[in-house]
Amino acid sequence: MSLPQRVKIVEVGPRDGLQNEKQVVPTAIKIELIERLAAAGLPAVEATSFVSPKWVPQMGDNSAVLAGLRRRPGVAYPVLTPNLKGFDAAVEAGATEVAIFGAASEAFSQKNINCSIAESLKRFEPVVSAATALDIKVRGYVSCVVGCPYEGAVAPGKVAEVARILADMGCYEISLGDTIGVGNPASVSRMLEACAGVVPVARLAGHFHDTYGMAVANIYAALQFGVAVFDSSVAGLGGCPYAKGASGNVASEDVVYLLQGLGIETGIDLAALAGIGDWISSAIGRPNGAKAGRALCARDS
Ligand code: HMG
Ligand code: MG
Repeated sequence: MSLPQRVKIVEVGPRDGLQNEKQVVPTAIKIELIERLAAAGLPAVEATSFVSPKWVPQMGDNSAVLAGLRRRPGVAYPVLTPNLKGFDAAVEAGATEVAIFGAASEAFSQKNINCSIAESLKRFEPVVSAATALDIKVRGYVSCVVGCPYEGAVAPGKVAEVARILADMGCYEISLGDTIGVGNPASVSRMLEACAGVVPVARLAGHFHDTYGMAVANIYAALQFGVAVFDSSVAGLGGCPYAKGASGNVASEDVVYLLQGLGIETGIDLAALAGIGDWISSAIGRPNGAKAGRALCARDS
């Protein structure tokens, strides 16, 4: 199968990455990170989440982040909104794109958003209706698409069912999250096959965490499947507070290096991205998790 000519990267480091840092990162650093990523050519930078600050204090400055951001024309700054309360706060703060997030595993749904899968889908409906009325685009996430930290292997059919419901509800794109990074090209391909049976591949995105080092291989498998949107995190920031042991998202630098090598356009300046990964890693005092980023910085220093 031929690979896509162009891939869209959704940068999730400022949200998926920084939500998992032990210390709360200063708002000014978050804003600088988002602005630098957009300037490096990232077409979508997930900026923050409007969740309960009791659950995720790291995102407690959500409104201040959006208010302080100098937005670049043409760049999307989606934010997570688990319910109407979060959606209303996001709109009030100036959000123009939101994301709802469900799971393919009951136990993870309970731990992450304190309700069953069915309840979560009910909760999302008014969010999508309110967003549609305001012309706000809604992205849908499905977590635990390969495995769950509590339930083990997750059936591809269950993932496809949740993906289909979110797509039917009105999500323009469904991001399939290997939340704990246990997938490999075989299990990811089985999962994609099930999802592609119910949602057009053009509306599917891959969201791979790199716990077992398989994320780049999984992206290559998904590319062969025709998937052309991937979520990633500069410097491989992150993890998931409700998925013990999960490491960060696949590093944006590693994904862009792969795509450049395959001759696939992204519009992203890889050298600039590597510099941002280096900067944010030292700003928050953690090692740079991007292999390509570290190699490029070492080569160019
Ligand atoms: P709950 O406690 O069940 O909610 O939390 P509730 O409706 O019963 O309300 C309880 C209290 O929370 C009330 O306040 C509400 O006002 C407040 P009180 O009266 O006690 O003072 N509340 C809120 N406050 C701010 N913003 C809100 C909000 N909603 C209610 N939106 C809830 C349910 C979903 C809010 C909670 O469980 C939560 O915030 N969970 C955090 C989930 C999260 O952020 N997880 C990480 C992101 S998902 C992820 O990382 C996976 C992904 O990357 C893909 C992948 O890798 O798989 C996307
Ligand atoms: Mg994630």
